[in-house]
Amino acid sequence: MTNNWTSEKIHDQTGKNILITGANSGLGFETSLALSKKGANVIMAVRNLEKGKEAIAKIKAINPAAKLDLMQLDLSDLDSIKRFSEAYHAKYKTLHVLMNNAGVMAIPKKETTRQGFEMQFGTNHLGHFALTAHLLDLIKSTPNAIVVTQSSGLHKRIDAIQFEDINWDKSYDKWKAYAQSKLANLLFTYELDRQFKAHKINAIATAAHPGFAETNLQRSSGFLVKYLANKLMAQSAEMGSLPILRAATDTGLKGAEYFGPTKMGEMRGYPDLVKSNEASYDSDAAKRLWDISEKLTGVKFNF
Ligand SMILES: NC(=O)c1ccc[n+]([C@@H]2O[C@H](COP(=O)([O-])OP(=O)(O)OC[C@H]3O[C@@H](n4cnc5c(N)ncnc54)[C@H](OP(=O)(O)O)[C@@H]3O)[C@@H](O)[C@H]2O)c1
Repeated sequence: MTNNWTSEKIHDQTGKNILITGANSGLGFETSLALSKKGANVIMAVRNLEKGKEAIAKIKAINPAAKLDLMQLDLSDLDSIKRFSEAYHAKYKTLHVLMNNAGVMAIPKKETTRQGFEMQFGTNHLGHFALTAHLLDLIKSTPNAIVVTQSSGLHKRIDAIQFEDINWDKSYDKWKAYAQSKLANLLFTYELDRQFKAHKINAIATAAHPGFAETNLQRSSGFLVKYLANKLMAQSAEMGSLPILRAATDTGLKGAEYFGPTKMGEMRGYPDLVKSNEASYDSDAAKRLWDISEKLTGVKFNF
């Protein structure tokens, strides 16, 4: 008998609607598989429906009874996020868990989203910010709803959001831009949880990071990370999915928890509570980021 937290510890999820972004690949795929095994209805939000269908076939081959629903969502396009939300509302009246998981990393040359935001900030943070706002009515009306967002240990590479050039217009550093988007994920999570509590909403926000897991994420990272580091240091995508699974299903969650692996400088191992950097707990910065995010996306949170 071990105390390690594994997906075996997830209690029955039957009757829950769990929405996962980036569900076709890597951590999102493993998370979809694990939660479908526990009986949840998993709404797999993907930008590429063909890849989504392949992922569904793989899960069904392992678990034929899986309840899976495939929906199209491109987080780098605010119009797609709005259309997705309308389609979700037309189908579902509840949202028990929203897993803001999808992401892009270290894009070599600056790219922009459909509305012109730097791709990592735009997809990883602004896209999920807008998605959560669009779905807030269902989060509010579903008892004990959880919004869990996938950050990264790499958020520690920066110690503040660079508000004076948030879109990397003056200069672009692919790793700092990624780190900023992942710090933004944490500032968003902690502020969302504060807002839920301030408005007496029966929902919480939590966060997780997977350590270093072998997925498709490193496709832009060059030979060293993609092949060498992946093979030598990375843990499996299944292990990397455990922190977000724990942050979404653990018993006794109160909100604002942050889970990650606990071995090898948080790169590997079973998940437990870990600490994010000081900047992530700066509530003034969180409010400032929130206001900017509402302005940039044109989406408001009606708590
Ligand atoms: N793997 C790690 O070591 C690691 C470490 C720290 C944090 N993370 C975080 O974990 C999350 C999942 O990444 P992963 O490692 O599982 O990588 P992955 O295998 O590349 O999966 C990323 C997922 O995000 C989707 N995605 C990317 N851009 C999107 C967009 N504009 N709209 C909708 N979906 C989009 C991808 O879709 P496509 O398949 O169509 O590209 C894919 O499904 C990310 O937020 C990442 O930052 C991962």
